[in-house]
Amino acid sequence: MSLIEKLSKPVFIDGAWIRPLIQGGKGVGATNGKTAGAWAAENAGGTIAAIGAAVGYGENGREVPYSYESKTRHGRFEEMLSMSVKGCQLQVETAYKASNGKGRVRINFLKMAGGSMRIMRQVLEKTRLESGGNKIHAVTMGAGLASEEDARICADEGVYLDPIISSVMALKVLLNRTYRNWAGRYQDVIGAVVYEDPWLAGGHNGITSRENPDEPQAPYERVKALRKIMNDNGMHEVAIIIAGGVWYLRDWQDWLDNQDVGPIAFQIGTRDLLTKECPISDEWKDLLFRMKEQDVVLNKFSPTGFYSSAYKNGMMVELKERSNRQVPFTQKLSNSMSAPVEGKGVPANKYSISLEDKEKVDRWIAQGFTIPLPTPDNTLIFVTNEKAREIKSHKTECVGCISTCKLSTWCEDADKKYSTGKTPDPRVHCIRKGLQEAIAGENLDNSLIFSGHNAYKAADDPFYRGENGTALIPTIKQLIERLTTGD
Ligand SMILES: Cc1cc2nc3c(=O)[nH]c(=O)nc-3n(C[C@H](O)[C@H](O)[C@H](O)COP(=O)(O)O)c2cc1C
Repeated sequence: MSLIEKLSKPVFIDGAWIRPLIQGGKGVGATNGKTAGAWAAENAGGTIAAIGAAVGYGENGREVPYSYESKTRHGRFEEMLSMSVKGCQLQVETAYKASNGKGRVRINFLKMAGGSMRIMRQVLEKTRLESGGNKIHAVTMGAGLASEEDARICADEGVYLDPIISSVMALKVLLNRTYRNWAGRYQDVIGAVVYEDPWLAGGHNGITSRENPDEPQAPYERVKALRKIMNDNGMHEVAIIIAGGVWYLRDWQDWLDNQDVGPIAFQIGTRDLLTKECPISDEWKDLLFRMKEQDVVLNKFSPTGFYSSAYKNGMMVELKERSNRQVPFTQKLSNSMSAPVEGKGVPANKYSISLEDKEKVDRWIAQGFTIPLPTPDNTLIFVTNEKAREIKSHKTECVGCISTCKLSTWCEDADKKYSTGKTPDPRVHCIRKGLQEAIAGENLDNSLIFSGHNAYKAADDPFYRGENGTALIPTIKQLIERLTTGD
């Protein structure tokens, strides 16, 4: 069988036989109802990003950002929840119509997003079809593992759940949670398992504490091990969707019709940004053509605590430098911490550091990094006055978008009085601001540009070159046709 024939062979995902091609969900707003519907209309899987789903679009075609009125963080959290539900409803409606009854429409939730379960529950209720079933075929969930309750909500609504995992360990936890412990009660709810390569995929990455971020492991053996466990649990027919680093499908020939990995499909994340329908700005699309190998960095700057992969722009560089200007400190002077931090505006005798660190701290202060900020690890970082004000504003303007945020210390749990009780961590970014600025497309150097590590392949891919060498952006239909050729 030729590669084209293999890639044209349908695979059973989320209750239907569709092309083995799935759109990776991308928040905030980088996949929406229009793009998901266009993927589904080609009998593939389209994925709406639930987080920050647009409630409407302005005259310039750009999405209208959420606006908040409440003076309290909890009030803004509730406003965010209702805007998210409204936005999801709009996007689902758009995808449902655009799909023309073909393919699958999925919706992507981040487990760690603030209120994700409440949003999911309400969205699934509001998108029910009168004739039974739902306008959404599946929920896909990453950045945290789907819980028993998530599986139950999906099962009750007749919607599949496609959990995203990155290791055998995560699959085992998941199976214990949603599969085996309830005597197969939720067995039928799993529509596919997404294996997201934690070293290559864009967005959040599921590198575990047992894995080394600097030592990537090849995916084949990991997926083979996943399949074995799935088969041992009677999941022979459940497809594995391979995500992360997928660009040319010809590179995956050996994975097709291969008993070691079983039925598979491919999830397209970064490559899907380069389509006409994709709502990111033209500047972001141009940037993708300029990215070079190593320009995407795996980092620990997400307030979720997960690793994530983003383009190394000014924002990433500044976060790295901020973390580099870091020393241990104590609040009291002692033999080992015998030097006080001294500078204009630094309260006297508040922070003590070691004598060895004193010289570099004085140098940072002389360079203008005059504000020491404590971290939850008993260290201080040094930033400029302006940066300290920006970090503070991100904390005070928090809307609770992450269920436990390292930056704002917001915690969704009322019993914990909505606080993690930890020291705010000034080494991480405000993900809401970063992603919102990226989708607004106005200041890409200071936005969070999530990217897969193979983004650099866009520059040399002849598919994107029109006559006279100008960049050519395809439609989703053209991309899917191209992918099916293996190129
Ligand atoms: C800009 C961007 C935003 C993303 N946002 C999300 C998200 O909100 N939820 C999610 O589960 N995955 C997200 N991802 C991951 C993709 O869905 C996909 O799995 C991943 O990009 C696959 O790797 P690739 O980029 O190498 O194709 C995002 C990826 C990118 C590039």
